[in-house]
Amino acid sequence: MSKHFTVLKKETIDFLNPHDDGIYVDATFGSGGHSFEIVSRVDSKVIAFEVHEPSIVDFQSKDHTLKSKICLINRNFSEIKNVLRELQINLIDGLVADLGWSLDQLESVQGLSYQKLNDDLDMRLNSNLLVCARDILNAASKDELSEIFARYADFFGKDNSILVQTIRNFRSNRLFLHVRDLVQVCDRAFNLKEIKSKSRRHNIYARVFQALRVKVNEEYENLEKLLVDSLEFLKSGSRVCVISFHSGEEKIVKSFLDRYTRKNQVSVISKSSDGIFLRPSVDELIQNLRSRSAKLFVYEKL
Ligand SMILES: C[S@@+](CC[C@H](N)C(=O)[O-])C[C@H]1O[C@@H](n2cnc3c(N)ncnc32)[C@H](O)[C@@H]1O
Repeated sequence: MSKHFTVLKKETIDFLNPHDDGIYVDATFGSGGHSFEIVSRVDSKVIAFEVHEPSIVDFQSKDHTLKSKICLINRNFSEIKNVLRELQINLIDGLVADLGWSLDQLESVQGLSYQKLNDDLDMRLNSNLLVCARDILNAASKDELSEIFARYADFFGKDNSILVQTIRNFRSNRLFLHVRDLVQVCDRAFNLKEIKSKSRRHNIYARVFQALRVKVNEEYENLEKLLVDSLEFLKSGSRVCVISFHSGEEKIVKSFLDRYTRKNQVSVISKSSDGIFLRPSVDELIQNLRSRSAKLFVYEKL
């Protein structure tokens, strides 16, 4: 059974404000929490994207009365333009993107969890991708590695150069193959064995692994493409709800909103005392602590 809790389900679909006879896009189907919430509220169709094949198989095996309202497609959301054209859809009534990966995936895909020391350093959520994490670690140049850890995990200055140098030292003796190899590099680079604070150690491992996962799965490029390409399909007045989980995703959403607000193409709806996003309620945090880093951005197409 899926361990995934759909984050900000009610708030997201309240903001989306779906109506009957609409066509909505769920860019990140997962176990379908947002899609099913839409079709259970209104008599509409959802076009859903999902790159992770097991989620597709899981959906196909589901027995759900509203399943026929969801058209689940095993394609990357960065292909939204082509997919909607292939389906002969010119306009959509709204879009939801709940970014990142579910807990099930983090546990099942080889190389995503730093705790599974014997896993292959793969990290591909879609087997069509050609380059996996160990290929990058074994072959990327010093500058490329430096950019990956700065851009995708905020390792700058001394931390960045120590990490990159330790990777290069490691691979001068042997190839990166398993999770334990990268864990060993983190331990050496940041002296993690000496650090008592579990959260500091977790922070380093999580960021190093995240940087590679984002790079391998081209997450930022895909997100930028989704946001820009969906604009031409969104009806005027329709809404987009994006849930981000870390600062890199957030930067892309904010930069998009900044550019397209100035071009008068979108208007931000989700304003709160925290900024231009909303956070999960305390009740949701109590139920699902993993939702604590979620931020919901909502904008309207003008
Ligand atoms: C956080 S989960 C979404 C959970 C979903 N809202 C639910 O309630 O179950 C994100 C999902 O998006 C998928 N995904 C991530 N990037 C994608 C992309 N570029 N194209 C299509 N699916 C993607 C992941 O495989 C994952 O299943």
